[in-house]
Amino acid sequence: MTMATNQQSAAYALTGKLAVVTGAASGIGREAARVFARAGARVVLADRNAAALAEIAAELGAEPGGAAMAIPTDVADRTQVERLADAARAIAPIDVWLNAAGVAAAPALLVDVDEATLDRLIAINLKGVFFGSAAAARRMVPEGRGSIINISSQGAESPAPGLAVYSLTKAGVNALTRTLAAEVGAAGVRVNAVAPGFIDTPMVSYRFTREDGSVIEDAKQELFAARAANAALGRIGQPIDIARVILFLAADASGFVTGETLRANGGADMR
Ligand SMILES: NC(=O)c1ccc[n+]([C@@H]2O[C@H](COP(=O)([O-])OP(=O)(O)OC[C@H]3O[C@@H](n4cnc5c(N)ncnc54)[C@H](O)[C@@H]3O)[C@@H](O)[C@H]2O)c1
Repeated sequence: MTMATNQQSAAYALTGKLAVVTGAASGIGREAARVFARAGARVVLADRNAAALAEIAAELGAEPGGAAMAIPTDVADRTQVERLADAARAIAPIDVWLNAAGVAAAPALLVDVDEATLDRLIAINLKGVFFGSAAAARRMVPEGRGSIINISSQGAESPAPGLAVYSLTKAGVNALTRTLAAEVGAAGVRVNAVAPGFIDTPMVSYRFTREDGSVIEDAKQELFAARAANAALGRIGQPIDIARVILFLAADASGFVTGETLRANGGADMR
C-alpha cells in the first residue's frame, strides 16, 4: 500500500481512540459500538439496561480495541452522566462521544399527551443528550480535539402525527448540536447529529411484541412494508446503515464537518 492509501484508510479508522457510547445495549447504539470497536477504538459502553450492556461488553472484548468498560448509566441523571465521563477520562482523553440512548412513546395526538409522557421524553431524549454533550465537551476542549455525535430523527423536521413529543425532543437535539458546535469549534471539537429514518430496532418493533416475547408478525411486516414503500431506496434501514454514518462523523474523514444534522433515511424525506 502506498503512503497515500494508508493515510486514506487511517482517516476512516479509530485506531487507538477512546469512544463513549450511550444506549449501547440495543439497536443503533449497540451497532455503533461494534463498528467503533472494529475500527480500532476502545469503547466505554453505557446504558440503563445493565444485563444487555454486559452481553455487548463481553462480545466486544474480542474486537481490536474492544470494550474498555461497561458502565450502567441513566442518561437522565446528570450525576450518573458525569460519573460516566470521569470514568472514561480516567482511561484516556475522550475522542468520541455518541449519545444514542433514547426512547419513544406510544403514538398519541398532541392534544391527548399527558404531562408525565412529556416529562419522560424530555428527560431522556433532550436532557440526556444535553448532559452527555456538555460532559463530553468540557473534557474535550482542554485536549483540543473530539467528536460528539447525537442521534436526532427524521421526525425533528418532518411532521409525524402522533409523535409530537418525540419530534420536539429531537428538534431540541438539532438545536443544541448547532449551538455547541459553534461554541467549541475553535477548540477543535466537532459536534454533529444523525437523523435516521425508520430503522429496524426494538424501539420500533416493541409495539408488535406481546408480553410473552412473541411477535405479531403480520402487523409488523405491514408497517415495515409501508415505510419501505415510502423511501426512495425502497427499504427500511438497519442499525448498520446508521452505525456507518456515525463512524464517518466520529473519524477524521469528517474533520471539516460540524454543526451538521446528517439525514440517513433512504430518501424517505428529501426536503
Ligand atoms: N429506530 C428508529 O427508527 C429510530 C429513528 C430515528 C431515531 N432513532 C433514535 O436512535 C436512538 C437509538 O434508538 P434505537 O432505535 O436503537 O432504540 P433501542 O430501543 O433499540 O435502543 C435504545 C437504548 O437506549 C437505552 N436507554 C433508554 N433510556 C435510557 C436512559 N434513560 N439511560 C440510558 N440508556 C437508556 C435503552 O436501554 C436501549 O438500550 C434513539 O435516540 C432513537 O430516538 C431511532
